[in-house]
Amino acid sequence: MNTKIAIQNLNAYYGKEQALKGIEAQIPAGGITVIVGPSGCGKSTLLRCLNRLLEETNGVRVTGQVLLDGEDIYARKADVTEVRTRVGLLAPKPFPLPMSIYDNVSYGRRIHGLEKLERRNGRSLDRKVEQYLRAAGLWDEVKDRLHDPASGLSTGQQQRLCLARALAVEPEVLLCDEPTSALDPISAQRIEEQLKLLSAETTVVIVSHSLRQARRLADHIIFLWMGNLVESGPSAQMFSAPRDERTRAYLYGDIG
Ligand SMILES: Nc1ncnc2c1ncn2[C@@H]1O[C@H](COP(=O)(O)OP(=O)(O)OP(=O)(O)O)[C@@H](O)[C@H]1O
Ligand SMILES: [Mg+2]
Repeated sequence: MNTKIAIQNLNAYYGKEQALKGIEAQIPAGGITVIVGPSGCGKSTLLRCLNRLLEETNGVRVTGQVLLDGEDIYARKADVTEVRTRVGLLAPKPFPLPMSIYDNVSYGRRIHGLEKLERRNGRSLDRKVEQYLRAAGLWDEVKDRLHDPASGLSTGQQQRLCLARALAVEPEVLLCDEPTSALDPISAQRIEEQLKLLSAETTVVIVSHSLRQARRLADHIIFLWMGNLVESGPSAQMFSAPRDERTRAYLYGDIG
């Protein structure tokens, strides 16, 4: 297994409450890793440790290591902005910026300084915007109204727009926290399809409370339970022959 992210003895605290307890896990390069487990077990907390977003929350403390391509993102010399460019995030609810569809996609490139090269050549930025809207499965629906406000899109379209915006900085890893939980079934399916396609080139990490979604999408599973890692491994093995009693109970619907 070619490891993209290695999590080593990771602990996270909200004040005195310890939400993650000595997590050890590996996330393979490419494909989809799904983090599953009952509500409150620490899935979102773990996800947000992977691009150092958790520390934006008041009173949070994180200890341990998260190695991205072998380099600890928590090292003193690590550049947090660079980490967040390399490891992007798609939130559960779409939050389009109060600007046009086009500007929502190009925004990420602007703030990350990637657009400098393109500014002199508007057409090259146009091509990029098209590329990411296509990758998010939204292009055909918006190509004739790129300069309309993003707020006019449906919720499902807005989530795909947020996906395009996240992709526009060309992250190596895309973190998605319950990316379809606010969507109707058809919109959810479209996001799933796009994530599956993207995972050919990008390492995708998804938090899901749906085992059916995990079955559909996961190449690799991380199972958390009350802040502990219970089991992680290839999805096929986990679903057919879970090693831990708690995983088995969760999979068979006895808990969760
Ligand atoms: N901002 C916060 N302040 C204090 N405690 C928090 C905060 N966010 C989460 N927690 C606590 O940390 C633990 C893990 O929460 P987390 O949100 O990571 O769980 P989760 O697995 O994502 O749950 P869900 O499936 O409900 O989204 C919970 O006990 C939760 O109450
Ligand atoms: Mg959560």
